[in-house]
Amino acid sequence: MSSHPYQRIAWVCVEGKTCPRQGSRQLFDALRKAIHSAGATDRVRVARSGCLAQCGHGPHVVIEPGTTWYAPVTTADSRPIIEQLLEGTPAPDLEYQPPSPGKNIRKPAEETIIPLEDPS
Ligand code: FES
Repeated sequence: MSSHPYQRIAWVCVEGKTCPRQGSRQLFDALRKAIHSAGATDRVRVARSGCLAQCGHGPHVVIEPGTTWYAPVTTADSRPIIEQLLEGTPAPDLEYQPPSPGKNIRKPAEETIIPLEDPS
């Protein structure tokens, strides 16, 4: 028996200064909806994260176990993230490549701005 309550957990940065402007809250909602629709809420958790000190490179998603960082992730390209949460299949094309170890915060003018999808 596992000592973990969930098989996998995705931490989505939704409380920092930049990821929410880049669509992380919409991404969070889309991931939760997908996990719910798949009937996997008893084994997969999508949780809110505060700032991960990688501002401007997001939106960021960190998946455990294995601690894989993904960015930037939009709702439009979230399917591989959902597959990793459900099946454990890695999504190497979306893996975050940090510019340097530790904190990486872009100045506002250098942020990657991802247009939000039209909800209609
Ligand atoms: S706002 Fe997401 S890493 Fe800082």
